[in-house]
Amino acid sequence: MDKTVTIPRPDDWHLHLRDGAMLKAVLPETARDFARAIIMPNLVPPVVTAAQAREYHDRILAALAPGSRFTPLMTLYLTEETDPDDVAAAAASGLVHAVKLYPAGATTNSASGVSDFDNVRAVLERMAEIGLPLCVHGEVTDHDIDIFDREAVFIDRVLDPIRRATPGLRVVMEHITTENGVDYVKSSDRDLGATITTHHLIINRNHILVGGIKPHYYCLPVAKREEHRRALRAAASSGDPRFFLGTDSAPHTDPNKESACGCAGCFTATNTMPLLAHVFEEENALDRLAAFASRNGPAFYRLPVNQDRLTLIRADTPTDFPPRIGSADGPVTVFDPGFPVYWRVS
Ligand code: DOR
Ligand code: ZN
Repeated sequence: MDKTVTIPRPDDWHLHLRDGAMLKAVLPETARDFARAIIMPNLVPPVVTAAQAREYHDRILAALAPGSRFTPLMTLYLTEETDPDDVAAAAASGLVHAVKLYPAGATTNSASGVSDFDNVRAVLERMAEIGLPLCVHGEVTDHDIDIFDREAVFIDRVLDPIRRATPGLRVVMEHITTENGVDYVKSSDRDLGATITTHHLIINRNHILVGGIKPHYYCLPVAKREEHRRALRAAASSGDPRFFLGTDSAPHTDPNKESACGCAGCFTATNTMPLLAHVFEEENALDRLAAFASRNGPAFYRLPVNQDRLTLIRADTPTDFPPRIGSADGPVTVFDPGFPVYWRVS
């Protein structure tokens, strides 16, 4: 008999939907399995004000299939000009659920991010007052810091000082990739959580570089050594409420990935839930998949767990995921875990 797992319908606490033709192409891939997602604001130009977030929210709703109940949870892109009152009003209206901090230059479309953290102090203090989470891309951008060390250095040099200077600030370390990140999150019993992506549970840095460069495994923060992947798996599958799913599914067209200077991002929206079932089965933790994908995120964001359910089935034959999806901008390759996956969504 087929093995099945039923969980409350999951949410994705870190997602890139883009805009225009790409939004239209990728949105159904997430809306199929997920009830809600925290929508990243790194568009060109970025989603900085409440008014821009409202307009983007409405474009997402307009792109949904008729009858879809998917709910986008909007974020604002923090700049050194962000107005604390605008942030507070956007949160009070229920439109905005977090503010995203990109260190300037850290990743895709982060040029408008923060260089001098003193210039965002007033916004962070207001967020602490109202309990609005700060989602952090946790990498320093200093040229003298090795790319594989940028997360660990960020924790010491930037994140810990910000948290000490702003008591009560609720922080999500986005897409942690290191044991250092896991340990830092575990060192705090309040106001700190972390998202973990599907792909960082599956690949380490060898997957990107051994036997030829694999651009579709390149993302930021870049995948680290195997010991770090193991630490991420242990954290994700532990049931610890501080760790929850944020896929960081980040579509780029194939020409933009397969290039002399390829974009960072893995597109996992299509097959994330079957891949997670595979990973959690390997970890003997299928009974904790609901905590990671469905319960811990809503608890951190102070939202209800979805009433609706999602069932995953393990079949005798591998699931055929599409190798890529089409968009009017060009094809987008779906993340290939490199092993057969027998799970599918019922
Ligand atoms: O790999 C990534 N892609 N990491 C990010 O932080 C941004 C994202 C994107 O927007 O493409
Ligand atoms: Zn991201």
